[in-house]
Amino acid sequence: MHPIAPHLYQAADNSLKDKVILVTGAGDGIGKQAALSYAGLGATVILLGRTVAKLEQVYDEIVAAGAPEPAIVPLDLKGATRQNYLDMAATIESQFSRLDGALLNAANIGVLGQFNQIPEDEWDLIMQVNVKSQFLLAQALLPLMQKSAKASLIFTSSSVGKKGRAYWGTYAISKFAIEGMSQTIADEYQKLGVRVNCINPGATRTLMRATAYPGEDPMTLKTPLDIMPTYLYLMSDDSEQVTGQSLDAQPK
Ligand SMILES: NC(=O)c1ccc[n+]([C@@H]2O[C@H](COP(=O)([O-])OP(=O)(O)OC[C@H]3O[C@@H](n4cnc5c(N)ncnc54)[C@H](OP(=O)(O)O)[C@@H]3O)[C@@H](O)[C@H]2O)c1
Repeated sequence: MHPIAPHLYQAADNSLKDKVILVTGAGDGIGKQAALSYAGLGATVILLGRTVAKLEQVYDEIVAAGAPEPAIVPLDLKGATRQNYLDMAATIESQFSRLDGALLNAANIGVLGQFNQIPEDEWDLIMQVNVKSQFLLAQALLPLMQKSAKASLIFTSSSVGKKGRAYWGTYAISKFAIEGMSQTIADEYQKLGVRVNCINPGATRTLMRATAYPGEDPMTLKTPLDIMPTYLYLMSDDSEQVTGQSLDAQPK
């Protein structure tokens, strides 16, 4: 059990000082906010994403705020190979010697619609970005995370990754896979020094949410900043005993 409710967690100033944390999908939405928030607490953040201009903007914001200088890793999870991830891990190791945290956040929602109408190439694309790339990332990063005293690996799930929903097709199925990957690695690494958990952000005001719900008023939704407490809790040493869990950033 958690000593405090993770969605109400309040991080102390500088509580991520000296930590090296990778965030995927760091150019927009929840990943961007997580990168800014982690850096604001003193972490050196490695910004991974596919649109360099967006990553550069986040970089500039972090530097302007006086936080530690981040690093940028331009990588498209759609086309990246196992070797790309291994090279990235080797670069992180040579620059920082270890990795204390990784928030695997980038994902694609794809096209929502009837199960029987899912095109095979759509299935392959969503599974590549949302599942296979997470598998390859985790395999490449775990040895580096074992070099940290208190490493935290965070996967990103969804409500439809816990209970299937009509028309959410490949995206929902990919998020079930993420819940399974997170639990499996957590169990295996319990005694190997890396804690592994999953966050379901819940409805959050981002481009992805607007794509899925075009008729919704975004102003009725929590912002990425509002849901940060759970992201900060799982990255901080206050959660060092927590592993194998799937936390809702907006519990009902
Ligand atoms: N927002 C919600 O309501 C909600 C609810 C449940 C779960 N989630 C989950 O939360 C996570 C973040 O969602 P979000 O709403 O912040 O999404 P978002 O606004 O679409 O942002 C996703 C970020 O990931 C990046 N990305 C997408 N595909 C990529 C690829 N192939 N390679 C590298 N980077 C890629 C995007 O890059 P570009 O900027 O270049 O597009 C963007 O920066 C996702 O895992 C999503 O499934 C979100």
